[in-house]
Amino acid sequence: MNKLSLVLVSAPLLFACSQPAQQNVSTETKQEAEFTQPAIIAGTDYHSFSNPSEIQVTHLDLDLTADFEKKQLIGSVKLEFERKDPKADTLIVDTRALTIHSVTAEGKPATFELGPEDVNLGSALSITVPPDNTHVTINYSTSPYASGVQWLTPAQTQGKEHPFLFTQAQAVHARSFIPLQDSPQVRVTYNARIRTPKELLAVMSAANDPNTPRDGDYQFTMPQPIPSYLIALAIGHLDFKPMGQRTGVYAEPEILSAAAAEFEDTESMLELTERTYGPYSWDRYDLLILPPSFPFGGMENPRLSFITPTVIAGDKSLVSLIAHELAHSWSGNTVTNATWRDLWLNEGFTTYLTYRIMEMLYGNDRYNMEAVLGYQSLEHDLAALPDNDEILAIDLRGRNPDDVFSDVAYEKGALFLRELEQRVGRKNFDAFLMQYFNHFAFQSITTDTFLTYLDNTLLKDYPEKLDKARIHQWVFEPGIPDGAPVPQSDAFTKIDNVRSAWLNGDIAAKAINTENWTTHEWLYFLNNMPDGLSEAQLANLDSAFSLTQSQNNEIAHSWLLIAVNHQYKPAYERLYDYLVHIGRNKLVKPLYRALSQTPEGKAFAQKAFEEAKPGYHPLTIHANEGFVTDGD
Ligand code: BES
Ligand code: ZN
Repeated sequence: MNKLSLVLVSAPLLFACSQPAQQNVSTETKQEAEFTQPAIIAGTDYHSFSNPSEIQVTHLDLDLTADFEKKQLIGSVKLEFERKDPKADTLIVDTRALTIHSVTAEGKPATFELGPEDVNLGSALSITVPPDNTHVTINYSTSPYASGVQWLTPAQTQGKEHPFLFTQAQAVHARSFIPLQDSPQVRVTYNARIRTPKELLAVMSAANDPNTPRDGDYQFTMPQPIPSYLIALAIGHLDFKPMGQRTGVYAEPEILSAAAAEFEDTESMLELTERTYGPYSWDRYDLLILPPSFPFGGMENPRLSFITPTVIAGDKSLVSLIAHELAHSWSGNTVTNATWRDLWLNEGFTTYLTYRIMEMLYGNDRYNMEAVLGYQSLEHDLAALPDNDEILAIDLRGRNPDDVFSDVAYEKGALFLRELEQRVGRKNFDAFLMQYFNHFAFQSITTDTFLTYLDNTLLKDYPEKLDKARIHQWVFEPGIPDGAPVPQSDAFTKIDNVRSAWLNGDIAAKAINTENWTTHEWLYFLNNMPDGLSEAQLANLDSAFSLTQSQNNEIAHSWLLIAVNHQYKPAYERLYDYLVHIGRNKLVKPLYRALSQTPEGKAFAQKAFEEAKPGYHPLTIHANEGFVTDGD
């Protein structure tokens, strides 16, 4: 029984856990708690200490200086708030590894207290606010090890001359660079003033002006209320290139043209998505290309998605990532998950939309191929997950949301929507989604709210086609319900045939006609190789297709995973290089995990990890260090 659930027995309405709250637990409830896990209270954010139901922050004014020497953001935030409970006299915000220099309430020194630190959640900062006050200002600085900030040396950038900084707030890391109510159900508008070294440009998840003078002093406004996990900042030697009327790319000059070419379909994606799901609410949609240590594929920071450079493959084969981050402008940024338990409302809807956007733009074959790859990835994850982690509305109490990252929210969520679509018909389902985005625009909602909405809309309109018990099974039970849609691709059937022929020795690798294979076909070919290939077979594949040298990071990943699982040593030099140069967790974690299965592999992984670590993001370090630590 963990500490968190104990606290929640006695204080179900408090947000999350803290040692002080534990003092309220009576002996009686403690004993009960040993045996029964209390029910989850929908809408309660178990990952924030903040108290928005009493006092809710509505606007931030940030004023920060980026000190690259000290690796610190130093400055202040003014929090404007509304009192939901007129008697409330304490504003509680989240912090993590922040140094609080002073707090003032409307200019006068305020009493504040920093609570004890929780390993997943940081510390509550409680500020006493005089009765009529409407804002406080906190002077603070961040830790050089802030979990939501990565400071890169020039060597870790494309240009090698200037340092770089970026933040990654989702899920619970905004609090490591701003003291705020770090809960997705609290939406704020913000203004920011960011001071940087003169030659660098700052960009934010806000209105950006690409032509602003590069003078080291930048101002931003985000006029639409957003949840804290969407507040984002990056600073670097950045240039801008437009791709369309409302779309463009920010990147280091060395990769700007390649990025703009790779992602040139972004404007069409935006238009097609609007046509099907309703108007885009965020004015511009730009991309920021980060250095390769960015721990995710992409992050949907509003108006400015943050994107890994590892998807610049030269042939647009990995641009579903852009469709995904763009789709979040509807599912996630406009209609937001209220708690991390409801993450599937963001990621499942977005994954469903991604497939649809890809189909609109590139046709049905690509849609089918991507859906099959997604489905296989889900099957792979499900094979390893405990039942509780296979549930869409997952119980995350006492856990760090970063540690529960799987395809369940994404692909199972998307599959659920695909089933709804198939039952009511695509046209009707599209109309439903458009209405849903409009109905809940700029709100944060729970799974239960969505289900009630579904009851009142689709279920009412198509009672003969939908079934409440089945919907319940999708959302609250593990696994994939029997009879769920199974994506199929004709192109992949051909790949299965070729693979079998090669495995049976009927044809040599060189004789396979791969000339017109897309990245997806390569991934399917490799991901479905059986275990137990011989060294000769691996060498045969490698010499026919130069897989070890593949410049497509996804194909290289699939091949390197096979190499590790078979201890195919000719690929290890590339593997080492790959691990050291890429920090995108999805690409490196399966490799570390596979390496850690043998003592020799683990030693190799340790060596690569040690070399890579100074360049890895805190999240990538956190996710992988377990695989390279002795004794695990
Ligand atoms: N919002 C997510 C990234 C995220 C999720 C960060 C949860 C922290 C907690 C982003 O939109 C995402 O899903 N990225 C994926 C993209 C992929 C599914 C196309 C990634 O980075 O791999
Ligand atoms: Zn996403």
